[in-house]
Order: sequence, then structure tokens, then C-alpha cells
Amino acid sequence: MNTVRTSDLPLPKIGRGKVRDIYAVGADRVLLLTTDRISAFDVVMAETIPMKGAVLTQISAYWFKKLEGAVPHHMISADADEIIREVPALKNHRANILGRAMLCRRTTVFPIECVIRGYISGSAWKEYAARGTLAGEKLPAGLVESAKLEPAIFSPATKAETGHDENITIARMREAVGSDVTDTLEQMTRKIYALGEAQARARGIIIADTKFEFGRDKDGRIILIDEVMTPDSSRFWAVDAYKPVSPQPSFDKQPLRDHLDAERRAGRWNGDAPPPPLPDSVVDATSKRYLEAYRRVTGSELKI
Ligand SMILES: Nc1ncnc2c1ncn2[C@@H]1O[C@H](COP(=O)(O)OP(=O)(O)O)[C@@H](O)[C@H]1O
Ligand SMILES: [Mg+2]
Repeated sequence: MNTVRTSDLPLPKIGRGKVRDIYAVGADRVLLLTTDRISAFDVVMAETIPMKGAVLTQISAYWFKKLEGAVPHHMISADADEIIREVPALKNHRANILGRAMLCRRTTVFPIECVIRGYISGSAWKEYAARGTLAGEKLPAGLVESAKLEPAIFSPATKAETGHDENITIARMREAVGSDVTDTLEQMTRKIYALGEAQARARGIIIADTKFEFGRDKDGRIILIDEVMTPDSSRFWAVDAYKPVSPQPSFDKQPLRDHLDAERRAGRWNGDAPPPPLPDSVVDATSKRYLEAYRRVTGSELKI
């Protein structure tokens, strides 16, 4: 199987995100192509991580199938042969789409990242430690870093075109997309996270927080889009290593972060692009972590 840094498929390319290339398929569908690019500390590495794109696409596909009948979503297929049947222009590109492509219903995307936090970490912990709040709303006193939040907190952010997403209050989300849409997106977010968090935890992964995107399809229905409960859109922690009161190691990126920290301490990297070259051992360890995340979440080996 190929490792892919940038894709070049014979379809109109309509977007390029940090990890995905987006192609139009007629007027009503899109092909999301997940590359093997990886970033850490906001810098994209020069190397690719074999199998990462397939892991992200197939974890999303696994959740979309689980949500069938419960939450409307955008997935049509994440199987290369089925996609080629639907999009014959891709027939000479099977190796380039294998495992990593998803054919989806095209939507008009709501410009909101629907973040839900079941544990307090990252930017949420920083704000809480400084002011006792999250997105300006008071939280209970006495929480420690990485503590479980009960109930989980819906904490939306704006989708920034460049730079960092900005946390916003629910009141601001109501102004941006309307009150009814806000309520619907919050309910859908809670339902998907509750299902995913419980199941993943039983299999050894804590989904500490995650982010969903939603859009409106051509019939006006609100559906779940983008990627779902992957290590890129979520914080994955190992259940067996979980210890509140401190930051938790990242299940997937820790080997890479540890290496980059060591390079920084040794004075070989200043933290900006270009990043230092990664040894094969770090690339291999990271690829294995992604495959292990797939195995734990789904309960089976990734077969591509
Ligand atoms: N069904 C869909 N219809 C339209 N746009 C979509 C759909 N699913 C995902 N997208 C968009 O495709 C892009 C995915 O690329 P990605 O690399 O994840 O971008 P980002 O760097 O913004 O995270 C996102 O901008 C997302 O909003
Ligand atoms: Mg994204």
C-alpha cells in the first residue's frame, strides 16, 4: 500500500485541509482523501506515517456504521471497489485511494466545531486553572487536570480559516447559526459522544474530548460529516495509563512528541517549521500506535 503526502486524482479538487484533500464528485457528492501527513506542536512533519490515512478513514467509517439508524451522516462508502463502481474515473487510481478515501454526501458546512469534553485537558484546563471557567462559564471548584467531567461539557468553537479555532459561548453559537440549529447540534453531539466514549472506554481507549462537524444536505437535513472520533479529531488516552492530576500521554502522538521534545532540549530544533527529520524508529512507532488505536476502537485488525 502506498504512503501519500499529497494526492492528485482526476476529479475537481475543491479544498485542501491540514490532512485531507477534498474532491467534488458531481454536484451532490465529495470524495475525502486522507493523506498520511502528520503534525505535532502545529508543525507538519516532512515524513508521512504509513497507514495513518487509512486508520483515520476506517475508524470514521466504523463509527458511521455504528451510528446507522441513530444519527444521519454523510458516508456513502469507504470501500475502494465500491467507490470505483460509483466513480469510474478513479479506476486507475485504486492504490491511491485504497483505505483512505471516503465517498460522501456533499453538504453546506455549519462554521462551528462542535467540541465535547468528557475530561478536562488542553486549552480547557488552561482556562479553568487560570479563571475557574470554560468559555467564560463557571465550572465546579476543585477539578484536577485530566479529571472526568460529569456531565460532559459542550464547548463549541469557530472554524478558523487560518490559525487556531476560538472557543465561543453557546450564546454566540446561537447568534451564528440560530437557536434551533444550536440545540440540534448540541443534542446530536452529546448522543454521538456518549455512545462512542462508553464503547471505546470498554476497549481500552478514553476519548477525552472530540470534535464533530455538521452540514445541511441538499434536502435540508442536518447530518454528521467530516471525520468521527479519530485520534486526529479527539484526544485518545490509554485506559490502563490514565492518572488524573497531570497531563496524560497521547495514545497516538506520544512517540513523536517525545522525540521532538528531546530535539528541542538538545538545541537542534526551535519549534518552528521546518521540523527536524524523523528517524525511522519514530515513524514506525507512530504508525504502530495508529494501527493499535484502530484495533482497540474497533476490536479487529485493519485489513486493507
Ligand atoms: N460532507 C461534507 N460536505 C462538505 N464539506 C465537508 C464534508 N465533510 C467534510 N467536509 C470538509 O472537508 C474538510 C476536511 O479536511 P481537513 O483536512 O479535515 O480540514 P481541516 O484542516 O479544516 O481540519 C473540512 O473543511 C470539512 O469541513
Ligand atoms: Mg479536519
